[in-house]
Amino acid sequence: MITLHAITKTYLLGSQELHVLKGISLTIHSGEFVAIMGPSGSGKSTLMNIIGLLDTPTTGTYALEGKSVSGLSEKDQAHVRSRRIGFVFQAFNLLQRMNALHQVMQPLLYQGANRQEAQKRAEDSLTAVGLADRMHHLPNELSGGQRQRVAIARALVTHPALMLADEPTGALDSHTGGEIMALLDQLNARGVTIVIVTHEQHIAEHAKRTIHILDGLIHTQ
Ligand SMILES: Nc1ncnc2c1ncn2[C@@H]1O[C@H](COP(=O)(O)OP(=O)(O)OP(=O)(O)O)[C@@H](O)[C@H]1O
Ligand SMILES: [Mg+2]
Repeated sequence: MITLHAITKTYLLGSQELHVLKGISLTIHSGEFVAIMGPSGSGKSTLMNIIGLLDTPTTGTYALEGKSVSGLSEKDQAHVRSRRIGFVFQAFNLLQRMNALHQVMQPLLYQGANRQEAQKRAEDSLTAVGLADRMHHLPNELSGGQRQRVAIARALVTHPALMLADEPTGALDSHTGGEIMALLDQLNARGVTIVIVTHEQHIAEHAKRTIHILDGLIHTQ
């Protein structure tokens, strides 16, 4: 599913080079559930953003589902991203003035689905995450766990093959975090490949493999 070879990422800050990823080679197979752990600043989010086509590596190659994405134009990358990848972030990243239903419809409307079809699928997706009775609530009318469910419903509504979650439970208490992880477990059981970043060992234990990143390199996997 994911083949990274010798990926580096270097940021230029004025005249100073910051080597954030220093040569990451990694294969993740379709259907895997992988956790990425490592200290703050070790490059986990940078790596996730590269895997999710939100950022490009400085050097190295990346193939997603057997196709090289390194050479794709930004437009083609956006196309792959919107059809194949779902994202969940620590801070939920919801639009403050849009109710749950409309948030979840957005990726479908972006893909060109008609409103009726988008609404039906968004309702199904919200129902699947247990929010059938919260569809018309705004983010600030929802609890943290419910907001993250909306974000998951939004990520799921396009039926992505790959789900990327960067500290999805980082802003939640442990009980609510457990509910979110149960949802990800269900998704993985249905065949969705999942990559999650976490600082918490008990969260990482939901994954079948843990990759430790240290100072821009894979330490153990
Ligand atoms: N756009 C950027 N420009 C310059 N430096 C950056 C940029 N993005 C990230 N960095 C630097 O890259 C390093 C790795 O950042 P990254 O966000 O990948 O860490 P992380 O492992 O996700 O940390 P955390 O656990 O705190 O989320 C940090 O030192 C950060 O300051
Ligand atoms: Mg991070």
